[in-house]
Amino acid sequence: MLPHMSQSPVVLILAAGLGTRMKSDRSKMLHAVAGRSLITWSLETARGARAGRTLVVLGHQSDEITQVIEQRYGAGAVEVVIQKEQRGTGHAVMAALPSLQGEPDDRVIVILTGDAPLFPAERVTELVRACADTGIALVSTRPTEAMAYGRLVRGAGGALERIVEHGDATADERAIDEMNAGFYAVRLGRLREAVSALTSDNAQGELYLTDIAADATVVEAPFDEVRGINDRVDLAAVDAVARQRINRRWMREGVTLVAPDQTFIDADVAAIAPDVWIGPGVHLRGQTKVGARSRIDAGCVLQDVALGEDVWVKPYSVMTEAAIGDRAQVGPFSHCRPGTVLDEEARIGNFVETKKAHLMAGAKANHLSYLGDASVGARANVGAGTITCNYDGVKKYKTVIEAGAFIGSDTQLVAPVTIGRDAYVGSGTTVTKDVPRGSLALSRAKQVNVDGWADRFREAQRKRGK
Ligand code: UD1
Ligand code: CA
Repeated sequence: MLPHMSQSPVVLILAAGLGTRMKSDRSKMLHAVAGRSLITWSLETARGARAGRTLVVLGHQSDEITQVIEQRYGAGAVEVVIQKEQRGTGHAVMAALPSLQGEPDDRVIVILTGDAPLFPAERVTELVRACADTGIALVSTRPTEAMAYGRLVRGAGGALERIVEHGDATADERAIDEMNAGFYAVRLGRLREAVSALTSDNAQGELYLTDIAADATVVEAPFDEVRGINDRVDLAAVDAVARQRINRRWMREGVTLVAPDQTFIDADVAAIAPDVWIGPGVHLRGQTKVGARSRIDAGCVLQDVALGEDVWVKPYSVMTEAAIGDRAQVGPFSHCRPGTVLDEEARIGNFVETKKAHLMAGAKANHLSYLGDASVGARANVGAGTITCNYDGVKKYKTVIEAGAFIGSDTQLVAPVTIGRDAYVGSGTTVTKDVPRGSLALSRAKQVNVDGWADRFREAQRKRGK
């Protein structure tokens, strides 16, 4: 519970703009920072700040954005307000006011600019507290590089007089280094009044929310917390800050990152256990989880993968929607596609591709294989160059290799087919019929040796050449 506040704040996120400066077909809100869309970052801030209600003002691509929101939070958790025409940040707030009709005048409305994803929830709480006196507070920042932000113009006594937008500012005003970050806490009564008084008499011909700022209490925040994303240069800069924060957090939790600057862990990666070791150039994406003491070596890309404990993923392996059991080994250069399951101590090695393949405890496929729609029993050994022929151009079929079976090198398993328990398949065999347990399958032609043939052949060639 916030001190001096009987009610939790309403959070209002401004996200209707297209983001022209991104030069993109997609709304800026759907671009990602550390693997998470911009709209999600603001919603996570609202959630962290324990917002009573969360409203999002949408315009461009509102359907797509609503879909992203509902997928994550469920329908109805976030209220969507549509701003049909984007006539400025003040106009966006105006569009949301009818939805707040039932709220009391003293309700605090926190306004977040949807394009600055790294604003921390604690800062929202600070902002809400700061608005207790004057009924309005806003966040300022002193950017470390030249930014086209609104400038805070203070009066002789130091109080905030107004904000002047970069496009409207004189050279003197542009020299002011204290800038508007785009975050506000305002009591609803005051917000209603101030917004109704806005005019579009300015460089952009828009209703600027910044025109409500007179006498606001100012909370200063570091630039890294509030940097907005207007173009792709900002996107990369904010992404770098987000990733640095994420990496530091994991290192403090006991994870070794050999090269933190070259390690890319998405914001939604929820679990990396202590003593995990991560080499340079590794990407952990989506909802990947990593169990204790596992080792992910250089250049691996894991998307929505669950690794158990003491797993060893060797360099340059690519894994998507896979589940890997304790003490299993993958790589180098393995490709685990969706539906790959390795039980404990199973191994796949160099240039092995798996898809919807389940390798049970201790099963191995160490070299150059494709295992698709396959189940490989415990301790079975799949030799180099084994291919499951799972697709006839129309349908997919399953290959079952039972426990303890030995598949010789360069074998084709034409599915649907079952290799029985402890059976052998001789190297170079094309298996088209089920192999009974404990038996040997061989389909290759008998070998013929022709004595002296090679010598005679070369001799004949030599004579012809003369
Ligand atoms: C805004 C501030 C500026 C501040 C900067 C910080 C105003 C007028 N200016 O400028 O003082 O320094 O943020 O990043 O507020 N939006 C709508 N509807 C609209 C227009 C905008 O929902 O009609 C949304 C956008 O989607 C965006 C946010 O409001 O998420 C800010 O709009 P943007 O056009 O990026 O404002 P800036 O020029 O960056
Ligand atoms: Ca902006």
